[in-house]
Amino acid sequence: MTDFLVKRDDLRQCRLAESAVPEIEPGQALLRVDGFGLTANNVTYAVMGEAMSYWDFFPAAEGWGRVPMWGFAEVERSEADGVEPGTRLYGYLPPSSHLVVTAVDADPSGFVDGSPHRKALPSAYHRYLATGSDRFYRADTEEIQMLLRPLFFTSFLIDDQLDDEGLTGRGPIVLSSASSKTAIAAAFLLAQRQGVELIGLTSPRSAEFVAGLGIYGRTVAYDAIDSLPREAATFVDLSGDGAVRRAVHSHFGDELVHSMAVGVTHWEQLGSGGGELPGPRPTFFFAPTRVTKRAGDWGRAGLEQRVGGAWHPFCEWTGSWLEPLRGEGFEAVRDAYLDVLEGRVAPRTAHVISLPG
Ligand SMILES: NC(=O)c1ccc[n+]([C@@H]2O[C@H](COP(=O)([O-])OP(=O)(O)OC[C@H]3O[C@@H](n4cnc5c(N)ncnc54)[C@H](OP(=O)(O)O)[C@@H]3O)[C@@H](O)[C@H]2O)c1
Repeated sequence: MTDFLVKRDDLRQCRLAESAVPEIEPGQALLRVDGFGLTANNVTYAVMGEAMSYWDFFPAAEGWGRVPMWGFAEVERSEADGVEPGTRLYGYLPPSSHLVVTAVDADPSGFVDGSPHRKALPSAYHRYLATGSDRFYRADTEEIQMLLRPLFFTSFLIDDQLDDEGLTGRGPIVLSSASSKTAIAAAFLLAQRQGVELIGLTSPRSAEFVAGLGIYGRTVAYDAIDSLPREAATFVDLSGDGAVRRAVHSHFGDELVHSMAVGVTHWEQLGSGGGELPGPRPTFFFAPTRVTKRAGDWGRAGLEQRVGGAWHPFCEWTGSWLEPLRGEGFEAVRDAYLDVLEGRVAPRTAHVISLPG
């Protein structure tokens, strides 16, 4: 078994570790990890590893962590009722060759990992979906699913919450890190709503790409926030950059209707721009919390039906610009991780890794 490990207190340090493939006990299954996407979202899992318990999903040697990924795995061996070897699954995976799960609630659609160490963690991460009955699945879009599916799910929930709270009709929606896949997916959905004005804030290097997407009404560089009209607006912050957040709050002041803190793509600027902010207090958006709310309102199947319905047109649209950067094996995992950590990935590209068995 191979694991890709990151030093928890120094995210630039990483290494590969080899060990014996684990034995399984009754009720368990051994999954062979087949591949996953790797974007800033995964780096955020590492950045927030301690604060939000992301290191607890896939425990590792003392002081080291396994950064969670989203991708496909295959059941290699099973001692769990209803989990058949050979089944292909989509779900939350470690950057490892194998994962042992304790399969509960197994049925033809998949199962939940009921491993004791995962019990206290958000349930939205625990389900493994068999590709045979997964409404998101199409064999020819596996790469896009690995890269964009969790981000799109979040974006669907952002779009839904903004509309639910009446924020799509109260001035422009300003998204930072507008070139991130999560922002792009949110903008794609918001742009379909009548009368919504979208402003994409981004770095100069990404501005041309963002403008070319055709979903933001305006593209503005971080150092030109002052050029925006001072009016009622909503801020959706994917950057987590204290200086950007301060600039937006200072510019709009009390006109800012809502400030939604979604991501930390600028992870090294997380603590910058401190002190009291003008305007509303930023509210943390956490997709699993919103999943629980909407699963309660619509039922789990109702939520998946809605997100699945919106997913396929988005998936097709990304084909017009997204260029997957394909890598194979654990050296590629390390290279991709460091590329994303250091912000070296051009926005029209994204790393997708396969791990040959
Ligand atoms: N709260 C939630 O529930 C939730 C759920 C899903 C995702 N998210 C968050 O959404 C964010 C976006 O994730 P993603 O996977 O969509 O990102 P992504 O597509 O990998 O985009 C990365 C973008 O971040 C900026 N960036 C990356 N590295 C940088 C660096 N070192 N210095 C400066 N800028 C850098 C660039 O945007 P600009 O140049 O445009 O700034 C870049 O295009 C992540 O923080 C993720 O955790 C949150």
